[in-house]
Amino acid sequence: MHNVREITKDLYSIGGDDRKLSRFENIHPIPEGISYNSYLLVDEKTVLLDTVDLSISDNFIENVQEVLGERPLDYLVINHMEPDHAGSIGFIQEYYPDVKVIGTKKTFDLLDQFNFKTSEDNIVVKDGDTMSFGEHELMFISAPMVHWPETMATFDTSNGVLFTADAFGTFKSLDGKLFNDEVDFESDFLVPARRYYSNIVGKYGPQVQSLMKKASKLDVKYIAPLHGPVWRTDLEYILDKYDKWSKYEAEEQGVLIVYGSMYGNTEKAAEDLAKRLIQKGMTNIKMYDASKTHVSYLVSDAFKYSHIVLASATYNLNIYTPVQNFLLDIKSLNLRNRTVGIVGNGSWAPTAEKLMKEILGKMKDMDVLEESFTITSTMKEEDVPKMEALADSIIETLE
Ligand code: FEO
Repeated sequence: MHNVREITKDLYSIGGDDRKLSRFENIHPIPEGISYNSYLLVDEKTVLLDTVDLSISDNFIENVQEVLGERPLDYLVINHMEPDHAGSIGFIQEYYPDVKVIGTKKTFDLLDQFNFKTSEDNIVVKDGDTMSFGEHELMFISAPMVHWPETMATFDTSNGVLFTADAFGTFKSLDGKLFNDEVDFESDFLVPARRYYSNIVGKYGPQVQSLMKKASKLDVKYIAPLHGPVWRTDLEYILDKYDKWSKYEAEEQGVLIVYGSMYGNTEKAAEDLAKRLIQKGMTNIKMYDASKTHVSYLVSDAFKYSHIVLASATYNLNIYTPVQNFLLDIKSLNLRNRTVGIVGNGSWAPTAEKLMKEILGKMKDMDVLEESFTITSTMKEEDVPKMEALADSIIETLE
């Protein structure tokens, strides 16, 4: 049974939800599922904008057939070649063998690498190129590294729809909804949207900024991403979030505490710090056991809060592995511009504090507080003034 919704005249949403997949990219847990969006423009010519993951291709083909009826599919615009969107290109080429593919030069390299059919009819577009399909004219906007090098956005100059590939996407299935004004975004989608952005696109902040700069010159009325709701109201809300995230600016003054503890002693130290911060008036604190919570959630909150505290046992003369994974992950994602406090621990050769500082020293604009310190095995009375000083320092650096 098809599942199609009209977005605006001549434009249909023909993607779908995947609630079965447990981990996106086989890494990030998605307990609330994900949507793979695809769009079909029906004008004098018919134009498909991106396909969907193979997991929902059956339903997708039904949707395409429902909208096209007996008409042929003339063009396929590929904004992004990652398989969660490109997975069903083979089916489209099989059902509609005369379809002409539109993409950037790199799109066609990837099309070939993923073993899809390429032909002499391929249309290579560059930044700012336009093509008319009847009443609708599409402008192609190069958006490299948002989130792969071939990525582009596409703008319909006649109705103001901006197709943004992964940008402005989110984890979580749509459950029959389509538009942002049909969901409670703040309560239901903001957390999955932040976790999606920070983990999937977070590394490419400058490139997202570049796309936003190009988009700011257009009369955008709809934002149509490849995951999550289509924005047709309150565009400023999501643009503001993306502006902050892509500039690595904290959304909130608050403290993320991530600890790694084998026997509970580092955990007790982390709790002691949290209690002191709360007594000093900072209640916006989130604390995670790095061994219990998937790192994608920690990354997401690292993008949200202004301050990060890392409390780690020493393990095999190194940083406790789950804390190290978190730290290396935010380094790889180019997170910057945070104030960081450290509490190390170790019983016979404590190295965690020093090693965490070394990694943070290689990151941009990470301000490691001088009051960071190391406990030996357990927090003791003699450590109280040090913990108090660290808490004071955090409070003083909050805006
Ligand atoms: Fe949703 Fe980069 O793919």
